[in-house]
Amino acid sequence: MKGRKLKSARASIIGAAIFFIVIALVIQIAVLVYDYIRERTDNNALIAILILIVIIMLSLVCTICDFIRRKIMVDKPTKKILDATDKIAKGDFSTRVEVLRDYNKYNEYDLIMENLNKMASELEKNEVLKTDFISNVSHEIKTPLAVIQNYANLLQDDTLDSETRKSYAKTLISASKRITDLITNILKLNKLENQEIQEKAEVFSLTESLSECVLSFESIIDKKQIDFTCDFDEVTIFSSKSLLEIVWNNLISNALKFTNDGGRIGVFLKTKGKNVEVSFSDNGCGMSKEVGAKIFEKFYQGDTSHATQGNGLGLALVKKVIDILGGEISVQSRVGVGSTFTILLKDVVYEV
Ligand SMILES: Nc1ncnc2c1ncn2[C@@H]1O[C@H](COP(=O)(O)OP(=O)(O)OP(=O)(O)O)[C@@H](O)[C@H]1O
Ligand SMILES: [Mg+2]
Repeated sequence: MKGRKLKSARASIIGAAIFFIVIALVIQIAVLVYDYIRERTDNNALIAILILIVIIMLSLVCTICDFIRRKIMVDKPTKKILDATDKIAKGDFSTRVEVLRDYNKYNEYDLIMENLNKMASELEKNEVLKTDFISNVSHEIKTPLAVIQNYANLLQDDTLDSETRKSYAKTLISASKRITDLITNILKLNKLENQEIQEKAEVFSLTESLSECVLSFESIIDKKQIDFTCDFDEVTIFSSKSLLEIVWNNLISNALKFTNDGGRIGVFLKTKGKNVEVSFSDNGCGMSKEVGAKIFEKFYQGDTSHATQGNGLGLALVKKVIDILGGEISVQSRVGVGSTFTILLKDVVYEV
């Protein structure tokens, strides 16, 4: 930026110098012509007319030169920029302006064109994201809504016995819960992305907070008869409790979802100096490398057999939170063997 400013200051100085030289040249030529004519005639009126003609001619030449320079240096790039902004304003985000000079020879117009291209490409990316997002959300809402409509119709049958009625009502509740969860997660993710949720750091016992999260899943753990192990170091940390709860809840819920009944799950909390490492291990379905590479993308669900249980937003939320907190998340997984998600929280241990 400093280099650019220097370059532009140098260009202004050169411009002023050229202007000064041109004026000096015009005056000098006029004086020379004046001397030349004075030697040959005494007619003052003729001298004045001739000098005037010379000055007018010289001015005309300078004006034409300046006009050509303007056409090439100012009007041409300005028109290119105007045409491009016009197209972008009409919604054509694929528009790009061709910058002909090499980067180190860029002038101000080239820089504007370069920035315009960057802006257009950002807008294009956002447009794709927006379209994908809308189609994903619509798709995720459509399925449970269809379930709700079907079962609500079925419930209208007066001849249904109370057991069937109850089971239909349960299906209705779970389908509507899916929509509520989807909207809750979208709102959370949106707030995190727009930085509306501030990282409210506080001193709290991570051991207790993690235990509470595990306990909130007690009924599912019992129902699935999971062999659940917890091994927690006692540690107090300075971080955002509420944001971290999003992480723990999603990772425990995933481990439970992707592990068959009677499977094994372990949650481990280790203190490593000022850092803390929390890992979630399961012997569930696991995932391939290809799936593992995409799991943090919004709406991505690798295991289609569980697609109805969730919307693929959990790990996108987890990743966002970990990024905000400046931590790290890593995954180790093998198909049919299980998965381990490890979270590293840096410089969080609170010492009294
Ligand atoms: N513990 C795990 N074992 C195997 N696969 C997993 C595990 N955790 C996540 N995955 C894979 O990562 C994908 C994305 O996980 P994510 O939590 O984002 O979505 P979800 O659990 O399917 O839905 P949601 O979290 O919105 O309820 C899952 O669909 C699954 O394929
Ligand atoms: Mg999940």
